[in-house]
Amino acid sequence: MHTIGVLTSGGDAPGMNAAIRAVVRRAAALGVEVIGIARGYAGLVQGDFHRLNSGSVTDIIHRGGTVLLTARSAEFRTKAGQAKAIDNLNHEGIEGLIVIGGDGSLHGAVELAKMGLSVVGIPATIDNDIAGTDYTIGFDTAVGTAVEAINRICDTATSHERNFIIEVMGRHSGQIALASGIAGGAEIILIPEYPVDYDLIVERLERGRKRGKLHSIVVVAEGVGSAFEIGREIARRTRLESRVTILGHIQRGGTPTAFDCLLASKLGARAVEVLLAGGSSRMVASVANKILDLDLEPLLKAKKGIDPELYRLAEVLAL
Ligand code: F6P
Repeated sequence: MHTIGVLTSGGDAPGMNAAIRAVVRRAAALGVEVIGIARGYAGLVQGDFHRLNSGSVTDIIHRGGTVLLTARSAEFRTKAGQAKAIDNLNHEGIEGLIVIGGDGSLHGAVELAKMGLSVVGIPATIDNDIAGTDYTIGFDTAVGTAVEAINRICDTATSHERNFIIEVMGRHSGQIALASGIAGGAEIILIPEYPVDYDLIVERLERGRKRGKLHSIVVVAEGVGSAFEIGREIARRTRLESRVTILGHIQRGGTPTAFDCLLASKLGARAVEVLLAGGSSRMVASVANKILDLDLEPLLKAKKGIDPELYRLAEVLAL
């Protein structure tokens, strides 16, 4: 292979730039040209291609977001859109593609691989909901941001002796809620993978107050339902003065943590090596601190799920 492409797609995640940089620099070291594709699959369909060299990725490792920009493309989901993408790649002489993104983006990668293109995926989403890898790029940063916010809210919650409902991201996954809830010392963590039990919530909050706790924190993943409705129901049942804070997209931006920069650097470099070794429809992954490459399609059919031990730990520590 002489020329490969790289794109970022779907929701951005801190550390995507570190992954782009690693792809470009590893490829350069191996004498391979890299074409950056702007706005993910939308740019692939439109032929929005930009030659990248080592200099183009200077000074981006520590920046959140993605310098390649990202988008969700309706056209690429059609067979005609995918055929156009393949034509554009052939026309540009791009022989292999690295896709950096989450679940939807990696599904797109599988579609292209089925059409004969060599594709390697790099899991990058703050949601950490991709099976086969312990961590996705961006999760550690998002959890750190959420914990910092929880700690700040704890201060004001204590001063006013209030109950706070804090909504974190995760439309289908409770990974951010569980990790940030444990690290932030939340009394209650609500995630889409487990049913909401209001009797248990009330019991636990009241027990905390009796022990002299001045505040309480309920961390809820957005996929559970409206944080405002949950807050109203808890306030009605406990008579605790409650407030709701939605952290939203602040969890997606910001400087990636050292963990995410390191993970992205390792995954980006390995993705190039896998592609050049002839791998296709593969995903690079971090498993027990080792970088592996795995067959992509079965991973997308598998569900990552919540670690039940971690969920139990959250309950024990919140007692
Ligand atoms: O995939 C990451 C994620 O942050 C989800 O947790 C969230 O539901 C979604 O993206 C929101 O994405 P957007 O606002 O960009 O549509």
